[in-house]
Amino acid sequence: MTQVKARVLSGVQPTGNLHLGNYLGAIRNFVGLQQTHECLYCVVDMHAITVFQDPVELAANTREVAAAFIAAGVDPKNHIVFNQAQVSQHAELAWVLNCVARMGWLNRMTQFKEKAGKDREKASVGLYVYPNLMAADILLYKATHVPVGEDQKQHLELARDIAQKFNNDFNAPEFFPLPEPIIQGPATRVMSLRDGSKKMSKSDPSDLSRITMTDQADDIARKIRKAKTDPDALPETADELPGRPEAANLLGLFAALTDQQLSAVIGQFAGAQFSVLKEQLAEVAVEKIAPIGAEMKRLTDDPATIDAILADGAARARAIAEPIMAEVRQRVGFLGN
Ligand code: TYM
Repeated sequence: MTQVKARVLSGVQPTGNLHLGNYLGAIRNFVGLQQTHECLYCVVDMHAITVFQDPVELAANTREVAAAFIAAGVDPKNHIVFNQAQVSQHAELAWVLNCVARMGWLNRMTQFKEKAGKDREKASVGLYVYPNLMAADILLYKATHVPVGEDQKQHLELARDIAQKFNNDFNAPEFFPLPEPIIQGPATRVMSLRDGSKKMSKSDPSDLSRITMTDQADDIARKIRKAKTDPDALPETADELPGRPEAANLLGLFAALTDQQLSAVIGQFAGAQFSVLKEQLAEVAVEKIAPIGAEMKRLTDDPATIDAILADGAARARAIAEPIMAEVRQRVGFLGN
């Protein structure tokens, strides 16, 4: 059994409206990890269908997320970019893990509660067991590190619990490494531009709530100009940030986009009006995001090339996954290996 020291896996759902939170919380960190880790980046199309997706849009959104990875700087030759559905071992391992995870564990998942909303009876069964599929995505490759935004922390803890229980149940200590979350930078939880108490999300009905990766320069600037503020001048110290979510969000975004510590940015804008920060934030956001959006467009205009990249990535992912899956089958007691 070979295990590389440090293998990274992360996933992004192709549900449209890929936004600045996805970029700063996750995708941007994917890029840096390529220097030190073997990386697999997955467009998780099987996760997306836990909520109904129009099939034509799902295919287009899958290509768009792959394009975003590549446009942001992920190298699909030296690392692996693929879509989940092309590697059927994800579904296979997920089934085994459905039988390892406990109902009580899943009942605690806050994301399910949020997504299912009030009418839980109408949520798909897939949405409920989604965190088990996510654990399978990671464990199928024995990934050791998982770069994600803050909202995925609980799912990562569950993946660790599942790995541990599998190892115990099947008397296979250390078979699955316990994956470590990498949640880093000043923008691990980017908030809505319309409401600093809500996460920036793909599904918010207001387009003004988020900057998408394909927004044109003037849209980016307009959304930042219209972002919600509070009536006071910008804080002088970090102690003043609690209770001022809009200020915290815009300052955090500026820090992330300019690669600075939040404390330095607070110092830079201490006591200034929001308009001063917004003007500079619009400038750096356009400078960083618009070229990625343009490159995404160039890539998605050539779907055959993206499909070839995903097929090649899937073949290489399968080559890593299959021996691990074979060992899972054998440990569980399935005949036929
Ligand atoms: P998804 O598709 O909702 O989001 C993709 C990544 O973006 C991060 N993110 C944010 N970061 C900061 N601020 C925000 N407002 C924000 N919104 C989203 C997410 O934390 C995530 O890192 N379950 C995952 C996908 C997944 C996965 C995996 C991740 C499936 N399998 C295996 C890691 C490993 C999800 O729904 O992400």
